[in-house]
Amino acid sequence: MTANETNTKGNDSPVDKSDPNYVRIFDTTLRDGEQSPGCSMNLEEKVRVARILEELGVDIIEAGFPIASNGDFEAVREVANTVKNSSVAGLARAAHQDIDRAWEAVKGAKLPRIHTFLSTSPLHMKFKLQMEPDQVHEAVIDSVSYARNLCPDVEWSPEDGSRTEHDFLCRTVESAIRAGASTINIPDTVGYAVPEEFAALIEMLFNRVPNIDKAVISVHCHNDLGLAVANSLAAVGAGARQVECTINGIGERAGNCALEEIIMALRTRQDVMPYITGADSTVITRASHLVSTITGFNVQPNKAIVGANAFAHESGIHQDGVLKNAETYEIMTPESVGLNQSNLVMGKHSGSHAFREKLKDLGYGNLGDNAIRDAFQRFKDLADKKKELFDEDLIALVDDTIQHENVPIKFVSLQVRAGSKGPQEADLELEIDGELVKTTARGNGPVDATFNAIGELFPHEAKLQLYQVHAVTGGTDAQAEVTVRLDENGKTVNGQGADADTLVASARAYVHGLNKLLVKREKTAPAALSA
Ligand code: KIV
Ligand code: ZN
Repeated sequence: MTANETNTKGNDSPVDKSDPNYVRIFDTTLRDGEQSPGCSMNLEEKVRVARILEELGVDIIEAGFPIASNGDFEAVREVANTVKNSSVAGLARAAHQDIDRAWEAVKGAKLPRIHTFLSTSPLHMKFKLQMEPDQVHEAVIDSVSYARNLCPDVEWSPEDGSRTEHDFLCRTVESAIRAGASTINIPDTVGYAVPEEFAALIEMLFNRVPNIDKAVISVHCHNDLGLAVANSLAAVGAGARQVECTINGIGERAGNCALEEIIMALRTRQDVMPYITGADSTVITRASHLVSTITGFNVQPNKAIVGANAFAHESGIHQDGVLKNAETYEIMTPESVGLNQSNLVMGKHSGSHAFREKLKDLGYGNLGDNAIRDAFQRFKDLADKKKELFDEDLIALVDDTIQHENVPIKFVSLQVRAGSKGPQEADLELEIDGELVKTTARGNGPVDATFNAIGELFPHEAKLQLYQVHAVTGGTDAQAEVTVRLDENGKTVNGQGADADTLVASARAYVHGLNKLLVKREKTAPAALSA
């Protein structure tokens, strides 16, 4: 049974993608999600997210905006070359050079798609584009035809579609379909719509556009009023058969429609929404964790489906009810989203074979031998310190190991003197380009001392914008997962580190961030960091 064969109901019957009630999941975590400030991901991180989206059974992965930068282009190309079971889309404005670049990036995919867009609302046409409606209409026909000559699968979006005059929306949609678009995506770009109104807009298109049956109607809702999921579901009820969404709902401003909420709403309320998707909902928790670790955007505890409290029953009355019959307060099982209640894993006596198998179960089947060996060593060290090891511990440890493979700056050791009497001092050893270097630095607290020591060994101008600690599991012996956000001349990166010692995790996170800035320096402005 593969992810693509499970259905929204969560049973084993294969999904029929030609079923009129099949809803395509179009994930834009790597494009619209990544566009939000502080969320940027590097190529390797994007490929990891794309892999998990494929495992989740997402139909289309929008991998980026290839004209935006060389980094975006390369990441889209790499995702296109990696992913086999999902379509890979690249975004393009209505300009030939954008479309050429998008095609260049996605053409290696098994199922490539070009997604091109142009604003159609009076406000956007007048002030943003400074174009007359007739010019916009011509540009739609030109861009879609141009894209269709390159790629068999073209999606077109009228940006700010929900605020577009109906006559003009119908005219442009009809022309885009005639020019070759097989998906028409209606965006609520500014998150202004409300469910009844948005459903009526979709119905209006079905009633008035003569060739509408030649395309799949998609929706792309932003969450400015907290209605992105409600609007998307209302649109599905009105006939939309593709929903654009992101993991954890990340995205511009208040974000996009949350993928996990759409999938679980459709799965849980089959009685009133008899639609199917190809998604394997049991991958949701891992995908959510990966995206929040990479972006440093923690999920709020009460967030639907993936928040830490989403399946927690604190009150005595609730606990009592759940113990008697889980359905009293649980509308979905934790297992259905891949939340295996504190899965105890192996201890210090487990061998490398069992370790490798466990990693496969957790979705790390592609790890190289060196990474597995390093992760296994760290697992043994952790097992010596910590009584019980859970899946979450392994995930944090392996993610951290992967992030510190093959990098110029390597963490070696840290010894810190902390406490109320002071001074706080850090003895730090790093390996920089293969050479062992060490120093002792003071600071205003142990974290400051640690980061100052890193600054002495590797002078840089990056500014710390965010420092965040998260306990991987419960208990005082839990591993700490630290995220730092570093900014250097407007270039922002997130660094992550995990360790049973919070200060070691902090040092690892900072070093990870610096390594990522170094990659950015190589690719963009050669003199950006003074090492
Ligand atoms: O929000 C929006 O309108 C978009 C389009 C590019 C689809 O992201
Ligand atoms: Zn958007």
